[in-house]
Amino acid sequence: MNTPPTDSEMYASKANMNAPTTDSKICGMGHSMKRKEDPRFIRGRGNYVDDIQLPGMLYMDIVRSPHAHAKIKSINTERALKIPGVLAVIDGPTLAKYNLHWMPTISSDTQMVLPIDEVMYQAQEVCAVIATERYIAADGADAVEVDYEALPPMMDPHKALAPGAPVLRKDKKDKKDNLAFHWEAGDRADTDRAMAAAEVVVSQNVYLPRIHVASMETCGCVADFNSAEGKLTMYMTTQAPHAVRTVFALVAGHVGLSEEKIRVVSPDIGGGFGGKVPVYPGYVIAVAASVVIGKPIKWIEDRMENLQADSFARDYHMKVELGAKKDGTMTALRIKTVADHGYANASANPSKFPAGLFSICTGSYDLKHAFCEVDAAYTHKPPGGVAYRCSFRVTEAAHAIERITDVLADKLKMDPAALRMKNFIKPEQFPYQSVLGWEYDSGNYPAALRKAMDTIGYESLRKEQQEKRARGELMGIGICSFTEVVGAGPSKNFDILGIKMFDSAEIRVHPTGKAMARFGTKSQGQGHETTYAQIVAQELGIPASDIQVEEGDTDTAPYGLGTYASRSTPTSGAAAALAARKIRAKAKKLAAHLLEVREEDLEWETGKFFVKGAPQKSKTIQELAFAAYTNMPQGLEPGLEATHYYDPPNLTFPFGSYICVVDIDRGTGAVKVRRFVAIDDCGNIINPMIVQGQIHGGLAQGVGPALYEEIGYDEDGNVYGGSFMDYYVPTSMECPSWETGHTVTPSPHHPFGAKGVGESATVGAPPAIANAVVDALKHLGVTHIDIPITPEKVWLLLKEKGAAE
Ligand code: CDP
Repeated sequence: MNTPPTDSEMYASKANMNAPTTDSKICGMGHSMKRKEDPRFIRGRGNYVDDIQLPGMLYMDIVRSPHAHAKIKSINTERALKIPGVLAVIDGPTLAKYNLHWMPTISSDTQMVLPIDEVMYQAQEVCAVIATERYIAADGADAVEVDYEALPPMMDPHKALAPGAPVLRKDKKDKKDNLAFHWEAGDRADTDRAMAAAEVVVSQNVYLPRIHVASMETCGCVADFNSAEGKLTMYMTTQAPHAVRTVFALVAGHVGLSEEKIRVVSPDIGGGFGGKVPVYPGYVIAVAASVVIGKPIKWIEDRMENLQADSFARDYHMKVELGAKKDGTMTALRIKTVADHGYANASANPSKFPAGLFSICTGSYDLKHAFCEVDAAYTHKPPGGVAYRCSFRVTEAAHAIERITDVLADKLKMDPAALRMKNFIKPEQFPYQSVLGWEYDSGNYPAALRKAMDTIGYESLRKEQQEKRARGELMGIGICSFTEVVGAGPSKNFDILGIKMFDSAEIRVHPTGKAMARFGTKSQGQGHETTYAQIVAQELGIPASDIQVEEGDTDTAPYGLGTYASRSTPTSGAAAALAARKIRAKAKKLAAHLLEVREEDLEWETGKFFVKGAPQKSKTIQELAFAAYTNMPQGLEPGLEATHYYDPPNLTFPFGSYICVVDIDRGTGAVKVRRFVAIDDCGNIINPMIVQGQIHGGLAQGVGPALYEEIGYDEDGNVYGGSFMDYYVPTSMECPSWETGHTVTPSPHHPFGAKGVGESATVGAPPAIANAVVDALKHLGVTHIDIPITPEKVWLLLKEKGAAE
């Protein structure tokens, strides 16, 4: 009797929504509602993993390798086990007894949990100490004596891929080289022909170094195996609780941990940015320890462990070539990349896309010929490839195309804004089929760039720059007009370890008209408790303050693939709207029953149904909710709830134009970002304040990699950037007062016309800053600088050009 809503009911509100259509009591989409989660956060009442205390809980600390490559000759635990409070030391051979010393990575590669006889990167887990207190566990870890025989490490991915290089992954039967994968997109021969025919070709090597998500909260868990029930409850810092539960069941099913016996709870999370998608060995060791010892085990990484052992992104060496006509029309793009994945390919990329969505590298431009390829190398670095606040390698792609566009502008002596305007995909070309296979849903790139130029006063800035240059001052203006691709699925193309990518929402309206909404995603600070409530409020007219949002508990939330790659709004956000529309369709039946009219005679106005032509005859959603439990018509299923699993027909393609102004100190080489205008377009906006916050945070996370951050290694495999003493994350002192704005180009296929936004600024900011620095120095003959553009790098360059003070 519950007939599903029609297509027109389901997909009813895709119109351009520049202003809210609900009042502030309901607080639907478009209101800058204050975040519902903040009262607990600002009172210090959040519930993070390290806040969890369980009776009898023990603590785990990890012994890590000081070598990038070494043979383990022996592990002596005698001294450690003599420390009062140290209960056990778990090593590779212990786990091997249960066949738990290896695990799959999220990219279907394999990775050691604990080694038997060889370590493959510095800071690799060697064994774990379990004790009654955290600091006793740390003392125990210090007391474990490991005898290593150091072996030569392979730190250079190019050397690793060279013929005859020693094979690193000897554990892989028949592996004869260090190629983790080769992937390509586009037509190589066609692109070669177009490149050969181009009137102008520019070429640039661009390196995006290894960086770290450096979230405020490190990784950790409390593994609680209840031997009486045979059930594992795993409180952990994960962005994808359901996928992790399934992976645990697949890996540990043979020791009795089947999926219904595993509950993964992801409580409040202090930033994830992709780094909390993979499963790290520490989680697995904690589970094994809890199963063996029968007590809850807490493991929380310290900052140096976090920076040295997990959550790495980028490490892409790209050769970028762009062909064009003399008038600036871009004709062909070719990119060859060597990607350093470290010891294992542990990136969370969909199976069909081992190099992520790198093939968005044609960016915002109407390029007819393009080819890109990626060779991924194994080296003796920690497993890398995390999609740090980016939709699987989009940051790398955007950096490549936006940098080479400026190189072309320089070569042709064209203004970089004019060159972009000339080559943009035009608004009337959408939906646009890119030569590398994407169907861009909607866009208006000239409008965003024009708005950015007007906001910053582009033409007068160019004059200011000329005057300053004449006085010997170094000022640069950098532009980035990026296109993003977010919202994985569609399930036909996207999966993680074979699990198809879609997402879910379940809404229950209680008899008193309040509601509970649960999702398969998991906020890490993005404000989902607020924005999901606003979506439901928009659709049902129940005030957002009356809607409780829950995520992250696999025992209660509907199955979903989690939150990363700005996918929550495009997937679960859509599911929320469609589940709400199912509820509205049922509420209509109840209204027809109560008002004694046919359903066709009813009209919806936010929060109530009324009889056409007799608006005084109406029933509010709250009255209808009560009736769903107290006065439903015979034959209609009681209750008022719905679940929707949303499999998007396409990704969404947010975009933006950023312009930044930098000043460079000729005495120190320091780059100061003086102004930064960010115009973003994420379609219809749910909460403008939250979107602005997302952009502010993302821009700061763009300044970091652009100017300061790098995890590097010397030839012996020793890390630099492994602590906050030498991994410089920007503070508010390094950030300008951001100037943000937006244009609105709704997504035509999303149920309420929204696109994701979470990572736009992290993608768009680094090339804008790099372009600005090069622009400041181009009269000195500088055409490119790799990020991070540190004062040292700039000063040495100035010295070389005779321009240092
Ligand atoms: O997946 P993730 O939450 O990281 O990214 P997102 O879907 O881009 O959303 C980030 C935050 O911005 C969420 O709170 C969204 O609800 C909000 N947002 C919005 O208010 N309007 C949009 N059009 C897109 C996102």
